Amino acid sequence: MNWQSGLKGKFRLLEPLKDRVTFKIGGRARYFAEPADEEDLRLLLSLAKREKVRVLILGAGSNLLVDDKGVNALVIRLSAPYFKKLIFQGRSVEAGAGVKLAGFISAAVRRDLGGYEFLAGIPGTVGGALVMNAGQSRQGQSIADLIDRVRVMDYNGNIKNLVSGKINFSYRKSGLDKYIILSARFNLRRRNKDKVKAVIKERLCRRRQSQDLSLPSAGCVFRNPAGDSAGRLIELAGLKGKKIGGAEVSSRHANFIVNRRDASSRDVLVLMQALRKKVKNKFKIALEPEIRIWKN
Ligand code: FAD
Ligand code: EPU
Repeated sequence: MNWQSGLKGKFRLLEPLKDRVTFKIGGRARYFAEPADEEDLRLLLSLAKREKVRVLILGAGSNLLVDDKGVNALVIRLSAPYFKKLIFQGRSVEAGAGVKLAGFISAAVRRDLGGYEFLAGIPGTVGGALVMNAGQSRQGQSIADLIDRVRVMDYNGNIKNLVSGKINFSYRKSGLDKYIILSARFNLRRRNKDKVKAVIKERLCRRRQSQDLSLPSAGCVFRNPAGDSAGRLIELAGLKGKKIGGAEVSSRHANFIVNRRDASSRDVLVLMQALRKKVKNKFKIALEPEIRIWKN
């Protein structure tokens, strides 16, 4: 089977994923592709369907735990220039799924646009942030608040434009998992760049104080239970600093598991299980993972 035939973009076999995810954990993807455009993406989807190969979409890998054994799947990354376009028109911006939030933010700041300041410090792409409905819990804001419509492809290669009101956004959920996100239109506000910069600076500073950004992680591993913080509960259960192999509960933010020394995916999963068990016993609250786990 020749995956490359007719493909304009990149294709590789047995691609290591470890350095493509912020946790720096995980094995290889059996197939890995970076389509050049939508036509290429459609071709890959049809080949995967024909070969009965699972398809996984990789953004910046900042909310992923990849199994050490890797994944028997076609991993697709929307990193070609086609998927990284940023088109500004007044207060409206069309952003490709592969655009990093940091790049989106700096381009919007330069144009005296604001409203997205709460996204500062989230190390994802537009596509990943939409699927996860990324945001900040404290301020109760999420990317859904900024979206006008999302352009997606379904796994049969059909393109759809979804208006924001028809998307089931809720806390860290979007229901967009059944699609591949291609781009999204954001509605921003006119705001003086110096004011925007000041808010972002303050947000990043608060983040540096409360989160461990020096070691590899995937951010918060558990969703917050209603009205509480998973980190607070894990800390109260006395679990800060708990280690399994190379994985450790951050002593700065207890909902962060950091990769201290070549942690395996198993180390992280065993540690997560231990945290769930202790929190369940102590508070009768069942923590649910926020991170996505890729395994066979
Ligand atoms: P990935 O991790 O690559 O993927 C996440 C999911 O989205 C996967 O299921 C993947 O298949 C899917 N996906 C990605 N792109 C597409 C696409 N184009 N089409 C369809 N599916 C796609 N999150 C917050 O919400 N708030 C925070 O404050 C926050 N802080 C963080 C701090 C740190 C230090 C870290 C490491 C993470 C943090 N996160 C936070 C988590 C993470 O950054 C977000 O969930 C982010 O939105 C994930 O984007 P990504 O591109 O990395 O997605
Ligand atoms: N807290 C503790 N101990 C800890 C962590 C937190 O007591 O170890 C307390 C804090 O002191 C505070 C409260 O819990 O009183 C809330 O903490 P914080 O403001 O850090 O927010 P969070 O609810 O723990 C959420 C998101 C983060 C996001 C922050 C900032 C979730 C699961 N987490 O954390 O998102 O950055 O708010 O808005 O929703 C992520 O999703 O990966 C992530 C990092």
